[in-house]
Amino acid sequence: MSATSTGNGKVVVNRAMSLDGFIAGPGHRMDWGGGRPLAEFVAPDDFAEVAAATGAMLIGRRTWEVGDEMEAEDPGSVDYPFSGPFFLLTHRPLEPPDPDVTILSGDIGDAVATALGGAGGKNLEILGADVAGQCLERGLVDEILVYVLPVLLGDGIPFSSPGLTRVDLKPISSTRSGDATILRFRVRR
Ligand SMILES: NC(=O)c1ccc[n+]([C@@H]2O[C@H](COP(=O)([O-])OP(=O)(O)OC[C@H]3O[C@@H](n4cnc5c(N)ncnc54)[C@H](OP(=O)(O)O)[C@@H]3O)[C@@H](O)[C@H]2O)c1
Repeated sequence: MSATSTGNGKVVVNRAMSLDGFIAGPGHRMDWGGGRPLAEFVAPDDFAEVAAATGAMLIGRRTWEVGDEMEAEDPGSVDYPFSGPFFLLTHRPLEPPDPDVTILSGDIGDAVATALGGAGGKNLEILGADVAGQCLERGLVDEILVYVLPVLLGDGIPFSSPGLTRVDLKPISSTRSGDATILRFRVRR
């Protein structure tokens, strides 16, 4: 059963990716060049449109920690025009607890249904390679949105986790947006 059947919003894997297919460089660093955050590569209207269509985010623990580290090193570097609700997939409590974050654990189907239910009819963004891989394996993803950025990283974290079985996609759109190219695909079921 598609996750979309539980509401109107779509389940969207949302990624920034180098032209050679890495969603982060070595050491999990998201450095796309020139010290510019993602928001400075994408045309502001397009970035705002994606954020406005988003009602909630389901985030893997490692992505959360990378975001915390980037923010600590360079305040504002993970600035994104979205303020929640956030659902964090983890086996460990947050220290200190964050009242604005709902901790989820266990079955990925249940986690997606809970987070989609919190999206108020808008889209649920899936952030994290491992978490996105689990969602794709279970057929829970409706769309993939990729910001292709103008850099070859050569090494790092690949788009797909090892072991992901084949997923066929239907192209929706391809748009030049600032210094990025936005690719959208529907997952074929
Ligand atoms: N370019 C982009 O747009 C983009 C976006 C997001 C992330 N990234 C990159 O992706 C990398 C992070 O992805 P990742 O694959 O390493 O990790 P991830 O998907 O962010 O997080 C994986 C962790 O989430 C927790 N988790 C996952 N499924 C769970 C479940 N069903 N129940 C409970 N906990 C669960 C586990 O953490 P614990 O067991 O430790 O709690 C697991 O180790 C980073 O390099 C980040 O920079 C890039």
